[in-house]
Amino acid sequence: MAVLFGGIVAQGAAQAFPTKPITIVVPFAAGGPSDTIARLFAASMSQKIGGQVIVENVAGAGSTVGIGRVAKADPDGHTLLLSHISHATTATLYRKLSYDPIKAFAPVGMVTDGAFVLVSRKDFGTDTLPQLFARLKADGDKITYAHAGVGSGSHLCGLMLMGQLGVKMTQIPYRGTGPAMNDLVSGKVDVLCDQITSALPQIQGKAIKAYAVTSTEKVKGLDLPTLAASGLPGFRATVWHGLYAPAGTPAPVIGQINKALREALKDPVILQRLAQLSTDPATEAQADPAFLGKHLVSEIAAWKKIIDTAGVYAD
Ligand code: MLT
Repeated sequence: MAVLFGGIVAQGAAQAFPTKPITIVVPFAAGGPSDTIARLFAASMSQKIGGQVIVENVAGAGSTVGIGRVAKADPDGHTLLLSHISHATTATLYRKLSYDPIKAFAPVGMVTDGAFVLVSRKDFGTDTLPQLFARLKADGDKITYAHAGVGSGSHLCGLMLMGQLGVKMTQIPYRGTGPAMNDLVSGKVDVLCDQITSALPQIQGKAIKAYAVTSTEKVKGLDLPTLAASGLPGFRATVWHGLYAPAGTPAPVIGQINKALREALKDPVILQRLAQLSTDPATEAQADPAFLGKHLVSEIAAWKKIIDTAGVYAD
């Protein structure tokens, strides 16, 4: 699915980039948090960069299909990737990847950081977190847990929750939490741990029930406890999104895209929307190619330890 933002602005002869629309590949389905963030930034960056910015959803295999697409794209700055922690987790979870998660990419900058919220279908029959925990313990695998594929944020959040509670729900994988949320709203699945970015409108519209957030601090705008302070000490799961180009993209082009990203991060429309969605914009220091490069390397190492200790792989 592709959507166009903005119009092509006439380029001066000296400006070699962009020469055609820029595509931001989102490795999850439309309607989910990654998609929401990509479309928000695409709209603003298209104005800053002076050209169309298109969002394309290339979902599948816990995001590795879309990430792999960008790894093989021409390194000219016209194909970008917006990926989140799955870029780090799948590096270990999938032993056979068609790309090198570090070497195949030129980082542009971090985009956002946000927490998950634990939610259920609205008629699940529990109102409070203790009631939800009791139900999960009593009914175990009779309860369905939706997620966005092995290695996705929602999958890992669910694994951490089940591990700490000592319960095993039946996992239902989707190509993103967009379609998973649709099925939660229509009552086809029971429980989901989704990024606040896309869960908040459903919570506010009372289409689903929310219990707790996964950050260590409470989230502004949401009257919910943290899991860490509600019987799961130390529970912490947040999702950062980063923007990447294929390795080999010329430094001046990365510089131009980074400038547009930094300007978008100051755009009042974006800041207001992210505040409404209780999601943090990247700071000045985080919106930096070197910062994102180092962060990706350290996150891959951190998740490798956790995944290797658990000994659970996707392939
Ligand atoms: C996830 O669970 O990793 C995300 O919510 C995926 C998505 O953006 O759909």
